[in-house]
Amino acid sequence: MPSPSPVPSRSGRGDRRSDFPGLADGWAYLDSAATAQKPGVVIDAIARAYGPEYATVHRGVYARSATMTERFEAARQTVATFINARSPSEVVFVRGATEAINLVANSWGNSLEAGDRILLSALEHHSNIVPWQLLRDRTGIEIDVAPLTADHRIDEDALEALLTPRTKLVAIAHVSNVLGSVADVTRIAAAAHSVGARLLVDGCQAAPRIAIDVQASGADFYVFSGHKLYGPTGIGVLWARSDILDAMPPWQGGGSMIETVTFERTTYAPAPQRFEAGTPHIVGAIGLAAAIDYVNTIGLGTIDAHERALATQAREGLRQINSVRLFGPENSAGIVSFALDGVHPHDIGTILDESGVAIRAGHHCAQPLMTVLGVPATARASFAVYNGSDDVDRLLDGMRRVTRIFG
Ligand SMILES: Cc1ncc(COP(=O)(O)O)c(C=O)c1O
Repeated sequence: MPSPSPVPSRSGRGDRRSDFPGLADGWAYLDSAATAQKPGVVIDAIARAYGPEYATVHRGVYARSATMTERFEAARQTVATFINARSPSEVVFVRGATEAINLVANSWGNSLEAGDRILLSALEHHSNIVPWQLLRDRTGIEIDVAPLTADHRIDEDALEALLTPRTKLVAIAHVSNVLGSVADVTRIAAAAHSVGARLLVDGCQAAPRIAIDVQASGADFYVFSGHKLYGPTGIGVLWARSDILDAMPPWQGGGSMIETVTFERTTYAPAPQRFEAGTPHIVGAIGLAAAIDYVNTIGLGTIDAHERALATQAREGLRQINSVRLFGPENSAGIVSFALDGVHPHDIGTILDESGVAIRAGHHCAQPLMTVLGVPATARASFAVYNGSDDVDRLLDGMRRVTRIFG
């Protein structure tokens, strides 16, 4: 097959790697599904925001704080535009996808009653399982699990068959962090709505590679983390339709989320401030906006096509190696999971590391999925805008070395 052409760079050096200081030593970094490397423009924006521009937001009467507030709220607008939200007030800044899902479970979820049902899928990340189990323990709701197809996508027919009038929420990953399987969000939203359920989409692995249109998708909640989208850690997004957000009670109390406080009674600020108690991650939001600007200069369509070509190259090469088992659909987003008979994925990861290739080995915070796949762990290569076909070649060379070592 033809090698995927590198994503063109503004520097004209033929690929995007030179935009990323973390890769200056020639590292073949194939663990972007865990966290992405940061481009220099993001690191610079963070350094400026913590340096000459630094001040608090929303409270200061001095000019620098007013400027910082404008930048913080401009970051919210950047996120809103990125996902096509109707208004920036639908964008709540949180620590990450995990916190976003916990927020929904602890605020919206508290209106659920014993006997209500939540429908998940078998490929969910623990952060889209455990918050619902905690809610189940508090409220007595039931959890249903949609199975996967033979090629490890969410079985959407089976999911539809599991919907009942008691189903109040469907919560699924847009893109699997283990398999790269892409869910048909629009179809699942329509199915969920047909029984009066809401749809929460875990967009952690979609945000860095698939254009999100929250309005067209039909989702009711959409969550993602900044650090997988080339932005900083500690910042993420909960988007919810404004009518839903407006009806949700706060889940954490403190400064910034109130209108008035007396010892007798407190009134709360409207969304999104109602859900942002305490001093926010000001610099994180600004860094996330810089990351979105960076991604927009390339285009998610270009990034996705580039990564899919690398995933195809990896799959075709791995298939040539004896005893390799591949998981997930052929037409996955840029994430490939595999196993080698008789070799623990940790050993694969360690040997690859010796040749400067970083993959992830383990259960990827998806233990129920490992049970479905029939393995305790997988090796996972995940691609990003800065990877090239040379990285895949190095992965395949490393895998041949693994097979030699293990005979
Ligand atoms: C699909 C998916 N959901 C949720 C998460 C949790 O993200 P975070 O740890 O940034 O909150 C991850 C991170 O690996 C993920 O890949």
